[in-house]
Amino acid sequence: MRITNLGSSQNASFYVACELYHQMLKHPHSVLGLATGGTMVDMYGDLVRLLRKNKLDVSHIETFNLDEYKGVPADHPESYNYYMHHILFDRYPHFSESQLHLPNGMATDVVAESKRYENLLDEKGPVDIQILGIGENGHIGFNEPGTPFESTTHCVNLTESTIQANSRFFENEEDVPRQAISMGLQSIMKAKRIILLAFGQQKKDAITHLAKGEITPDMPASILRSHPHVDIYVDDEAMPDCMR
Ligand code: PGA
Repeated sequence: MRITNLGSSQNASFYVACELYHQMLKHPHSVLGLATGGTMVDMYGDLVRLLRKNKLDVSHIETFNLDEYKGVPADHPESYNYYMHHILFDRYPHFSESQLHLPNGMATDVVAESKRYENLLDEKGPVDIQILGIGENGHIGFNEPGTPFESTTHCVNLTESTIQANSRFFENEEDVPRQAISMGLQSIMKAKRIILLAFGQQKKDAITHLAKGEITPDMPASILRSHPHVDIYVDDEAMPDCMR
């Protein structure tokens, strides 16, 4: 696992957009694991610009998103399905709906839906590059502290800290969904390569633990230390003091 300080979130976003672009260019049948959240906004903007300028054929790419809120319809502005369409898929219309995969947050049987998603991931995978953000509490996807390392796609109860952090995207904190369907830690670890992005002072403790702390389910991202190919790109603010 390597941690690289690229100085600013702009630099890191552009760098990772180029990595994704090159993956798709060199391997047109790539499977990409995608993430949502504030951290990813500039990276997707840069990726859209690269795709448009170079008119890349993406017709054989498949994408899998990490998670989706439970009980939020796909066309709701706060759903991750909406986020992905708004920020990437609809802005490069060469993507077609059949290539894009997210858990169905409206499924009535969440156990069956989790199984369907994991099976699809196994059938189409492995993911070539999995993009990750990280929560202040060390979550990846919606795998909150305490999630077993062997977890596959499952229904998650969000912690208070995640509800609070995500309330900035909603009008009121009460509107933040309390549950989500998320790839598990084992699902994430099946990817061939993982790229994690973390920006800002508020992510520094999580990155510090990831760099030097114990590998424990209390800090879900720490599992990444046992993956053979993980690159972490941070800005100045998120760089651990012990690595400066
Ligand atoms: P953020 O979320 O990019 O909005 O900070 C990251 C995460 O919670 O995984």
